[in-house]
Amino acid sequence: MKVLVIGGGGREHALVWKLSQSKNIDSIFCIPGNGGISDMADCVEMDIHNIEGLTGFSKKEGIGLVIVGPESPLATGIVDVFEKEGIPIFGPRKNGALIETSKIFAKELMDKYKIPTASFKTFYKYDDAQAYLNTIQPPFVIKADGLCAGKGAYVIQERQDSEHVLKELMVNLIHGDAGRRVIIENFLPGVEASYLVFTDGKTVMPMLPSQDHKPLLDNDKGPNTGGMGAYTPIPFINESMEKEIDTHIMSTTINAMNDQGIVYKGVLYGGLMITEGKPYVIEFNARLGDPETQPIFFIMENDILPVLLACVEGTLNDKEGMKWKSGVSVCVVVASKGYPDKPEKGKVIKGLENLKNEKDIMVFHAGTKKIGNDYYTSGGRVLGVTAMGKTYGDAIRKVYEAVSCIEFEGMYYRKDIGKKALDTA
Ligand SMILES: Nc1ncnc2c1ncn2[C@@H]1O[C@H](COP(=O)(O)OP(=O)(O)O)[C@@H](O)[C@H]1O
Ligand SMILES: [Mg+2]
Repeated sequence: MKVLVIGGGGREHALVWKLSQSKNIDSIFCIPGNGGISDMADCVEMDIHNIEGLTGFSKKEGIGLVIVGPESPLATGIVDVFEKEGIPIFGPRKNGALIETSKIFAKELMDKYKIPTASFKTFYKYDDAQAYLNTIQPPFVIKADGLCAGKGAYVIQERQDSEHVLKELMVNLIHGDAGRRVIIENFLPGVEASYLVFTDGKTVMPMLPSQDHKPLLDNDKGPNTGGMGAYTPIPFINESMEKEIDTHIMSTTINAMNDQGIVYKGVLYGGLMITEGKPYVIEFNARLGDPETQPIFFIMENDILPVLLACVEGTLNDKEGMKWKSGVSVCVVVASKGYPDKPEKGKVIKGLENLKNEKDIMVFHAGTKKIGNDYYTSGGRVLGVTAMGKTYGDAIRKVYEAVSCIEFEGMYYRKDIGKKALDTA
């Protein structure tokens, strides 16, 4: 079978790498891909929002399965179009992607079906939201309804900040239409976890729980980013909590969507807060997380292709659960100077060849370009250096040893990825 992966980040490199080990795959295409992906797949330059171009390409090549990485093509309904054309595609339709593209939709769904989440109010008018601010005490959270590339949620600690945030969102429209409607919700203290499941719209098949590191600087300081590192599994969720999450959060959500007339297929990503030993949903995403996919796929034992096909075909119930290698998998994101605001580009990356044959290490590429035999930086997040080890300590030591082999001008990475697990375990 020929497969096509859409996207060009670390998540897509992990997908392509895992697919490259599948028994039944003859060739892998990736649009647009990146420097590392080009070593294992045919990369094609095309805008990932050019849906006509993508369907045309898939028909011409006889693609048997398309896998969508990022949220934005899902938000515009890429899956609906491919389904109409009769091309198998992995991911939710536009109405399913609403769970990520509208926080109000997600919160109202959770409210209606009693899925645990922070209590909230929805506002369509600035004056109403403004008046409500006078009735509550920080900490609380203000969120834009729509997609904001990870920049639309504001944890408010000081009352005066809230006025400013609200005005920026609803009046100055700094995130465009995404901020015309907002949610103001309770702050939940605790530890965050990413909980991803495969689903065919009926059955859910959980992946190992993981933890992302959003802030740019060590000890979770500085501005939020797309994610500076992740590890899996995590010590904050035991087997009984996993069952609780599978049943009362993930399955309940899929059933709730069904009840609303929405068949949700693909990956459902629960961004959770574990507060006083109980899991609450902070948000849902309609796709694999990045960087979480990198450590998760690196430690995945089973062939990924049958799982993806079963999600598309609605036969996940017939499949055995996911299998995982034993141990811990940790990914450290190596970024460019200036990330996340204005990352530098075009720097040559040295040292990658030293890590090529290490069994427990994989360097996934994100913002890279290959020119001749050399790799150059071409974006903010450049590499996801990923390592497996027996224990948290072992995996963390290996991953940072690997990072120390790599060099490019202005390279930056957090030094404390996985530290929370070390402190807890
Ligand atoms: N109710 C909440 N309580 C505590 N922290 C929150 C809450 N909502 C969001 N956050 C923090 O803000 C971050 C971003 O919020 P999220 O809803 O995931 O928005 P997005 O990922 O779309 O920017 C979360 O990862 C979490 O750290
Ligand atoms: Mg989030």
